[in-house]
Amino acid sequence: MPQQVNILMVDDQPAKLLTYEVMLAELGENLLKATSAREALEILLKNDVAVVLMDVSMPDIDGFELAEMIRQHPRFQRTAIIFISAVHLTDLDRLKGYQRGAVDYLSVPVVPELLRAKVTVFTELHRQAKQLEALNRELRRLSGHLMTSQDEERRRFARELHDSIGQELAAAKIMLDTMQRHSAINGNGKIASEASQVIDRAIRQVRNISHLLHPPLLDEGGLVSALRWFLDGVKERSGIETTLNLYPRDFPRLAGPLERTVFRIVQEALTNVYRHSGARKAAVVVRQKDSKLIVQVLDDGKGVSEQTLQLQPGSIGVGIGGMRERARELGGELRMLKGDPGTTVEVVIPSVVPAPAEAAMA
Ligand SMILES: Nc1ncnc2c1ncn2[C@@H]1O[C@H](COP(=O)(O)OP(=O)(O)O)[C@@H](O)[C@H]1O
Ligand SMILES: [Mg+2]
Repeated sequence: MPQQVNILMVDDQPAKLLTYEVMLAELGENLLKATSAREALEILLKNDVAVVLMDVSMPDIDGFELAEMIRQHPRFQRTAIIFISAVHLTDLDRLKGYQRGAVDYLSVPVVPELLRAKVTVFTELHRQAKQLEALNRELRRLSGHLMTSQDEERRRFARELHDSIGQELAAAKIMLDTMQRHSAINGNGKIASEASQVIDRAIRQVRNISHLLHPPLLDEGGLVSALRWFLDGVKERSGIETTLNLYPRDFPRLAGPLERTVFRIVQEALTNVYRHSGARKAAVVVRQKDSKLIVQVLDDGKGVSEQTLQLQPGSIGVGIGGMRERARELGGELRMLKGDPGTTVEVVIPSVVPAPAEAAMA
C-alpha cells in the first residue's frame, strides 16, 4: 500500500468542499479543507501537500491571486494546482502566466472521473518525487559510509603490512646479516649480502605502501608534514616537480577528520595528475581564510574533457567521485576547472572547525 499524500481543497463554500470530498474519497488520499486563502496558506505551511484544488472565484481573494501568493513561497514553487472555474477565455489567458510548477484547469460542472484523473496525475508525480528524494538521501548516506569504511580499511591494511610482513622481513634481515658474517669464511658472504640488500628494498617498499595507505605523519605531525612527505614521494617516484603553497605560511593544525579529508583529496588528485595528465609540474595550494578552507591541485598537463569538467556521471570515475563525496561530507564542494594549461581541482569547505587545543600544540 503506497503512502497517502495530502490533497488540499480550497473553496469558500463548505458545500462545494463536501462535493469534492465525496468525489475524491475513493482515491484513498488524505483530504484537507480550507475555506479561505489564509487557512489554505496555514495548511500548506504545516503539511506536505501534493496538489491544491482551488476555486477560482472566492470573495476575499480570487484563486489566481492565492496561487500567486503560494508560488512566491520558495517551498511551494512547484506545488501542483488545479483551478476550478467556469471557463472564461480571460481566465485561461491568466493561466498561461504560470511557468513554474504544474497547473491544470477544470470547468464546472465538475465531472467526478475527470477530477479524479487529474488529481491522480499529480499525486502520483508527488509520490515519485518523494521516493526519488528518499533514494537520493539513502545514496548520499551510503557513499559517506563507504568513504569512512575505506579509510578504516586502509588504516588496518597499513598496520597489518607494517606489523606482519614488515616484522617478518626485519627478522629475515637480521638472520641474513648474521649468516653473512659467519659465511664470510666459507665464501657464501656475497650471496648473503645481496639477499640482505633485497630484503632492505622489500622493507622500504612495505613501509612506503603502508605509509601511503595511512600516513603516520598525518596523525602526529599534521596535514602540512604529511603533505610535504607525500609531495616529495611523488617527485621521487614520478619525476613531476611538485610545490606546496600554504596560506598562511605558518599553517595551523585543523580538526582530525578535516586534515584526513584534505590529505586524501590531494592524494587522489595527484594520482590523477600522475596517471592521466602527462604534466611536468604540479602545485598544491592550501588556503585558510576566515572560516573557509580552499584546496587546489594544479597541473600543467593535457587537461580534461568538457564532460569531466562538468562532472558528468559517465566521464568521472571513483577518483573524482570520491573526492567530491569527501568534500560534501564536510559541507563543501568540488570543482574541476580548466587550467592554463592543464587542470585545476578545487575544493572549498565553507566552515572549518579549528583543531582542539592540545592537537594544535602538538
Ligand atoms: N589531472 C588530470 N589531467 C587529465 N585528465 C584527468 C585528470 N584528472 C582526471 N582526469 C580524467 O578524468 C577521468 C576520471 O578520473 P577519476 O574519477 O579519478 O577516475 P580514474 O582515475 O579511475 O579514471 C580520468 O580517467 C581522466 O581521463
Ligand atoms: Mg583517478
